[in-house]
Amino acid sequence: MSRRPDIFGEFTADHRAVTELLDRIEAAPSGAAERGELVTRLTDLLFTHCAAEEEHLFPVVQHDVPDGGGLVFGSIHDHLAIGQYLADLQGVGPADPAFDTLLRGLADTVRRHLAGEEKVLFPAARKALPAAERAALGERVRTERAKLGGPEGISGPEGISGPEQLSGPEEISGPEEISEPEGISESEQLGGPEEISG
Ligand SMILES: [Fe+2]
Repeated sequence: MSRRPDIFGEFTADHRAVTELLDRIEAAPSGAAERGELVTRLTDLLFTHCAAEEEHLFPVVQHDVPDGGGLVFGSIHDHLAIGQYLADLQGVGPADPAFDTLLRGLADTVRRHLAGEEKVLFPAARKALPAAERAALGERVRTERAKLGGPEGISGPEGISGPEQLSGPEEISGPEEISEPEGISESEQLGGPEEISG
């Protein structure tokens, strides 16, 4: 039995990280270089999060949730708008007056989007998916992030042993000889405690 978060726990934790970073950006002085640096971090965080939702959650929602196609369409529409704001922000420096206008548009769009997913899409999907599938999807998201190395700011909620426990096949590097055949089972690939690295 796993007590690790399911896919909605993972994505809700992402949402908290996004919101906190957004708050920090808005709290930084207008025109400060810090705002630009934080926006770059937010861009990594949002792209990683949106891509993971699109890859791991939306196809299941579209297939298994009543009116899932409409919900997914709305979320993808938001992702595209967010991506456009982020791209535009990367093109102007924090000292440019357009930066603050774009930031306000981004912040409004992101907050509305996160709230919409948490109030409508996530609950509808949670209801439609069996607990085992939700847990498996959460595990899949963590495994992929462990392999790719997620951006700063994406981490499990407190008390959760994070993705560092999941080591991809290329991470296997113990002192003992590894000589399993290609058919190594997935559970064996999930790294042991020696992989914990902060
Ligand atoms: Fe999301």
